[in-house]
Amino acid sequence: MAQVHAGMAMSLDGFVADRHGGTARLSSPATSAGSDHMTELIRETGAVVLGRRTYAMAADPDWYVGNYEFQVPIFVVTHTPPEVPPAQDEHLTFTFVTDGIASAVTQAKAAAGDRAVKVIGASTVRQALRAGLADELHVDIAPVLLGAGLPLFGDPGLDGVALRRIAAREAGGITELRFEVLNPI
Ligand SMILES: NC(=O)c1ccc[n+]([C@@H]2O[C@H](COP(=O)([O-])OP(=O)(O)OC[C@H]3O[C@@H](n4cnc5c(N)ncnc54)[C@H](OP(=O)(O)O)[C@@H]3O)[C@@H](O)[C@H]2O)c1
Repeated sequence: MAQVHAGMAMSLDGFVADRHGGTARLSSPATSAGSDHMTELIRETGAVVLGRRTYAMAADPDWYVGNYEFQVPIFVVTHTPPEVPPAQDEHLTFTFVTDGIASAVTQAKAAAGDRAVKVIGASTVRQALRAGLADELHVDIAPVLLGAGLPLFGDPGLDGVALRRIAAREAGGITELRFEVLNPI
């Protein structure tokens, strides 16, 4: 059964987007398209669960096919699916899931085969952790302080989650930390 990996890139002070919603300062060429880091992530990922706001980062939803790093089935958690679905092909399909994160993760696991499900989006990652759906938490720590922005954590509902570090790697200034989630809340 597919493992569920929840995670994002985060500033050292805990933000996954700056105060203007930008993420450029959290990435590095060493973790971007074409890098060894991204090539490995692509290889291990069989399906993706996105929060609707993360999905909306692409100004044109038809951009995903052929351009998004993960050309796999995508499951978008939302209260309001688009009236016209975005472009899809035999690799990248979209499913808009309106009955919650657990349903999205279950559907994504079925689609991922023996590869992992990647959960992306701050609120979506927190929900996956709160619901005990994430097997691993992955955080790429960027060597920058943003001072303010969108926090990944800071959620009282996450009190008590215990983690075991299973990897710590460097890629172009980014520190990739991987944790096993030991105790679903
Ligand atoms: N640093 C990184 O690696 C990275 C990566 C990706 C994104 N980001 C940033 O993260 C931000 C997005 O994160 P976010 O926390 O704001 O939003 P998000 O998790 O991407 O999406 C949240 C939205 O998804 C929908 N949703 C979530 N849970 C749901 C549920 N259980 N049932 C139905 N709908 C549900 C809701 O949208 P509706 O109610 O509108 O449908 C909700 O407003 C953006 O600023 C983006 O730039 C950073």
